[in-house]
Amino acid sequence: MTLRVNVVSIFPEMFDALRFGMSGRALEQKALELLMTNPRDFAKNRYRTIDDRPYGGGPGMVMMAEPLSAAIDAASGESREGTKKAGPIVYLSPKGRRMEQTDVESFAALPELTLIAGRYEGIDERVIQTRIDDEVSIGDYVLAGGEFAAMVLIEAVARLLPGVLGNEESAVQESFTSGILDYPHYTRPECFENLRVPEVLLSGDHKKIANWRQNQALKVTKERRPDLLEIRSSIKPGDKH
Ligand SMILES: C[S@@+](CC[C@H](N)C(=O)[O-])C[C@H]1O[C@@H](n2cnc3c(N)ncnc32)[C@H](O)[C@@H]1O
Repeated sequence: MTLRVNVVSIFPEMFDALRFGMSGRALEQKALELLMTNPRDFAKNRYRTIDDRPYGGGPGMVMMAEPLSAAIDAASGESREGTKKAGPIVYLSPKGRRMEQTDVESFAALPELTLIAGRYEGIDERVIQTRIDDEVSIGDYVLAGGEFAAMVLIEAVARLLPGVLGNEESAVQESFTSGILDYPHYTRPECFENLRVPEVLLSGDHKKIANWRQNQALKVTKERRPDLLEIRSSIKPGDKH
């Protein structure tokens, strides 16, 4: 199955960065398909203008409703005549709900997703009212545009697509997936600058190793993110976290 991600952005070339690493592998394997739409191609004047001054005054510019909504409709396959779109339309925005690993898992299970990257002071509110199903933030800070935020989402999703990670177990064992942070990792050599690999990892005793890792994961979570342990203890058995 392929996840088709439609991206609406005035800087489509930025997404070339996704050709590297894990997302590059997902694209090569056709687990992921990326289709870019540029709102400038839907601008109404020969200067390809897509932004204008805000009503009510104030600093900056705002992405205009008409070219942006036309681009979203073209990207998501939803024409004004009412052809049904195949997946949610997500606006990357600092005002959105903060993206968690569980959201990434939900996105990865979809057949299609349309991502809108804003610029300037953001997009005309009427586009949000008429086109956007979901607003997602990648953290409590403000970026200059939604492109990097969209790429963060795509990379997090791409590595969960079947066959992409190689070892399916890796995704199950890492931070957040089990509701806590990851345990520490070591590789060769056994001794680096007088620091030895913990003896238990050399023991070959898989049960002991699993216990040690679980304890280390709990310890680091308690130290750095005690909030995750509280969330975990409030989840009843059988609940999906
Ligand atoms: C300069 S920001 C606009 C900020 C907006 N005026 C505000 O204060 O909420 C321009 C674009 O960057 C994107 N963006 C900025 N910060 C983001 C974040 N934390 N998560 C997701 N997208 C973000 C959004 O697409 C936004 O439209």
